[in-house]
Amino acid sequence: MSEQYDLIVVGSGAAGLSVALSAASGLRVAVVSRGVLGLDGATCWAQGGIAAAIGSGDSPGQHAADTIHAGQRLNNKSAVRWLAESAPDVIRWLISLGMQFDVVNGRLALGREAAHSFPRILHAGGDATGAELIRALRDAVARQPQMDRYEFTDVCEILKAGEKAVGVLARNRRGDLIRILAPNVVLATGGIGQLYCHTSNPSEADASGIALAQLAGAETADLEFVQFHPTALAPIDGDGNPQLPLITEAIRGAGAILLNDQGMRFMAAAHPQAELAPRDVVARAVWDQVSRGHRVYLDARPLANSLRARFPNLVQACHQRDIDPRVQLIPVVPAAHYHMGGIKVDLHSLTRVPGLYAVGELACTGVHGANRLASNSLLEALAFGKALGERLAQRGPVAPITRVDPPAGHAVRAESANDQMVLARLRQLMWNDVGIFRTEDGLQAALHQIQVMERRCLSGAPVLRQLLVARLMVEACLRRRESIGAHFLASPAMEFSKPAHGQAVA
Ligand code: FUM
Repeated sequence: MSEQYDLIVVGSGAAGLSVALSAASGLRVAVVSRGVLGLDGATCWAQGGIAAAIGSGDSPGQHAADTIHAGQRLNNKSAVRWLAESAPDVIRWLISLGMQFDVVNGRLALGREAAHSFPRILHAGGDATGAELIRALRDAVARQPQMDRYEFTDVCEILKAGEKAVGVLARNRRGDLIRILAPNVVLATGGIGQLYCHTSNPSEADASGIALAQLAGAETADLEFVQFHPTALAPIDGDGNPQLPLITEAIRGAGAILLNDQGMRFMAAAHPQAELAPRDVVARAVWDQVSRGHRVYLDARPLANSLRARFPNLVQACHQRDIDPRVQLIPVVPAAHYHMGGIKVDLHSLTRVPGLYAVGELACTGVHGANRLASNSLLEALAFGKALGERLAQRGPVAPITRVDPPAGHAVRAESANDQMVLARLRQLMWNDVGIFRTEDGLQAALHQIQVMERRCLSGAPVLRQLLVARLMVEACLRRRESIGAHFLASPAMEFSKPAHGQAVA
């Protein structure tokens, strides 16, 4: 028995819910999520905001220019222009759904972040933009009777009929394998942060969407470009959870500074913009300090009076670790934050597999080029998601699926203790050799070790998805022979900045 829909959306963050909501008025839609709808992805953790050129003197052209500058001109320029022009409409749509943006003197408050030439970051609840966005999207979903939810359901494989995607094979909350069929399958499963031992991403951002699409025949692009955020709250020793609370860069914009354990403000010497240097520059400087044996701290004490009002997430995360940021330094480490690369899609979010679409962080529209401009990620997810949903709704219901090829048997085993052990080793390898600093030798060694791990895994083991994507990323790094944007290939003379092989920097 298979359920039939017009559209299956896999993933329920900003990208997935935008597609589902925009399509739901005309189509029967199924939303498949690994946890509770809306709460299982990176969106609800987002702190920065949503970029839109709506302020006085600003323009979509200027937003596009800033995006291309940050992306080192490797961006798809048509995608960037379309995104910047779509942004004001996305904001109006969110307001119509009930999203409450922060307001000052009756007008939408516009923040400014690194590398934006105008204040154009809309935010909500101070640094709680993602939580408010998800609240608004979930409330809108609750008003949609046409939408079915498959929560706590993990997609194992894209089902096909010949070349075409026609549905998904998934493991439901009881552990049973189920088939859900539709002529349109949208993947919106988020990023790859969980391939690293420190990340700002939640557990669902484990690269499985890239593996699903690639195994179904989709192409990947720009996989080497991983953005590392310089400031995540340092882990508690012995806690193996790779997800760390992000400390938004807006706090450095407001005046917080970085110090090492000798009280040295190292960013002042590293870049003319000091703490407000581009994110990758700050991340490398923090990594360099850590690899020299220093601890790194954020000093937010000068902002003591405004911290609770402006950065409630930060204050809460610190309190959970018994740190009072008004009077104490905050220990930080860099963390894998955002993947610019992913499944290659056209401007209509279509992969090269007919009927298979990708939206959000998983997709590579080319908007971000070699490095993402802050607060463009939620915008991209919402704009491309909304446009895709509207396009599919306009096309209307399609004939039901009558033919499905037998599944290939990817990732159909239940996760075992061995999968967990392999993943822990992979994270260490990716952190050390495919992280902030990369070398040709380190990448070659990583490739070899990943191939060995792949050969040793049982066929159908879920961790094979992570190993596949990790291998594709390393291969992409090895093809990109120069340092550009977030891909930093250290010369042999810079080897001092890299930890010894197999040793974690934490
Ligand atoms: O630091 C931050 O608030 C991150 C924002 C972003 O990734 O866009």
